[in-house]
Amino acid sequence: MKADIYYFSATGNSLTTAKMLADCLGDGSQCIPVASLPKTGTINIAADAVGFVFPVYYGDMPYILREAVGRMNFSGSPYIFCVPTYRGHQGAAAQRLNQLLRSHGQKLSLSWGVPMPGNSRLSSPEETAQMLSLQPERVREAAKHISAMEVSDYDSPEPLEPTMVDKPGNFRGIKADENCTGCGLCVNVCPMDNISLQDGHAQMGDNCITCLSCFHWCPVEAIYMSLDESIARRFKYRHPDVKPEDISAQKGQN
Ligand SMILES: Cc1cc2nc3c(=O)[nH]c(=O)nc-3n(C[C@H](O)[C@H](O)[C@H](O)COP(=O)(O)O)c2cc1C
Ligand code: SF4
Ligand code: SF4
Repeated sequence: MKADIYYFSATGNSLTTAKMLADCLGDGSQCIPVASLPKTGTINIAADAVGFVFPVYYGDMPYILREAVGRMNFSGSPYIFCVPTYRGHQGAAAQRLNQLLRSHGQKLSLSWGVPMPGNSRLSSPEETAQMLSLQPERVREAAKHISAMEVSDYDSPEPLEPTMVDKPGNFRGIKADENCTGCGLCVNVCPMDNISLQDGHAQMGDNCITCLSCFHWCPVEAIYMSLDESIARRFKYRHPDVKPEDISAQKGQN
């Protein structure tokens, strides 16, 4: 099956999943980073099969994906699938994507989630190792069902309420402390261009989608969540096959 796969990833789980999926589907399937899409205007989608690979945030999709799908203009009625990556609970991510697609006269045909190590709530070292080792097999399984163009029902009886990630906002109070060296890596990996260097110190704005890319990739662990004491500095997670350049490359030329 030839599919255009739109993906977003902060710490590499969805990036590696999207690439594995494109390899499994074959036939010229390609991965397109959501962060590389034009920031305004209509996004025309002409493919016969369209996929979305993204991390689940609070049982929802990341704002960057919601916003881009909101501007998509699909030609005809493509087969639309998604592969959410998540630590433990997908919530209503597929139903919310389906609801968004429905407002465009489209629908989600299949959602096949892939469990991956957490980058918000902690996965234990054992869980992390196990999820990483099972990733290729689980992606192959997803590809099998997608290639067969399986269909399921994601309509909700009632409209789903917006979640806290429905719009941007730095609700975890993400900040850089005095250990910031001004290296600029967080500026590069932020998908929303929400970080700037002021007097050699990283400053976060309000256009944050709480992806935690900056938090996990900062080489000196200077970034913390000032509004959430319990998880302020916690742990760092990065998919072992992914480098910071792979994350920043999602922004393309934008
Ligand atoms: C703000 C935020 C909220 C999250 N919410 C959920 C959740 O509701 N359920 C879940 O299973 N995982 C949740 N996660 C974990 C991520 O979905 C998971 O680690 C994902 O694979 C990360 O993908 P990435 O490496 O491509 O960014 C959340 C992560 C973040 C940063
Ligand atoms: S990545 Fe860390 S050290 Fe580098 S500018 Fe950002 S906060 Fe500062
Ligand atoms: S400031 Fe950090 S958490 Fe917020 S969008 Fe940018 S990289 Fe993600």
